[in-house]
Amino acid sequence: MKIVILNGSARKGNTSAAIQAFRKGAEGKHEIEVIEPHKLHIAPCKGCGACQCHKGCVDKDDTNPIIDAIAAADIILFATPVYWWGITGQLKLVIDKCYCRGMQIKGKKVGLIVTGGAPVDNVQYELIEKQFDCMAEYLGWDMLFQKRYSANAKDELAKNEAVMAELEELGKEL
Ligand SMILES: Cc1cc2nc3c(=O)[nH]c(=O)nc-3n(C[C@H](O)[C@H](O)[C@H](O)COP(=O)(O)O)c2cc1C
Repeated sequence: MKIVILNGSARKGNTSAAIQAFRKGAEGKHEIEVIEPHKLHIAPCKGCGACQCHKGCVDKDDTNPIIDAIAAADIILFATPVYWWGITGQLKLVIDKCYCRGMQIKGKKVGLIVTGGAPVDNVQYELIEKQFDCMAEYLGWDMLFQKRYSANAKDELAKNEAVMAELEELGKEL
């Protein structure tokens, strides 16, 4: 299967560590592509609606190649830190742009990994998970898992052996 991982963080920190552990487990069996939106040029969706009549987004930036990769995936893994009780802006930019190819991202298998500084019982994780539940319902996604981790310092999650093992196992199970 083709797995596309969207990294919502711009730093080599907790989300990145979570992705690496997951990737370690899934590697070999699957084709994996990690997309780092912060390294790309993706203009915010203008809501012009042109994509509904033409092929793809009108923006001549990295939007269309990224959406092509997402549309070609069997599994999409969204990984994001919590920023202000929500997902990061860079991940939201990509999700908004999926509007131009909504039909082609239907029926995917999807995973979600969220890392935040606050404890895992904070409402922020529920808010984010609910947002993905709504998208999943709308697009007929099969939500494979939703994981939440509390970590703040850059290297905190990488040092948590139990979490690293759990994520590696998650990758292996695919
Ligand atoms: C702009 C900004 C906003 C943040 N907002 C929250 C928040 O609302 N709740 C929270 O628990 N942590 C918040 N944090 C902390 C990060 O979620 C936390 O440090 C996370 O582990 C960062 O992940 P990363 O290392 O993958 O970038 C915020 C951090 C930044 C930089």
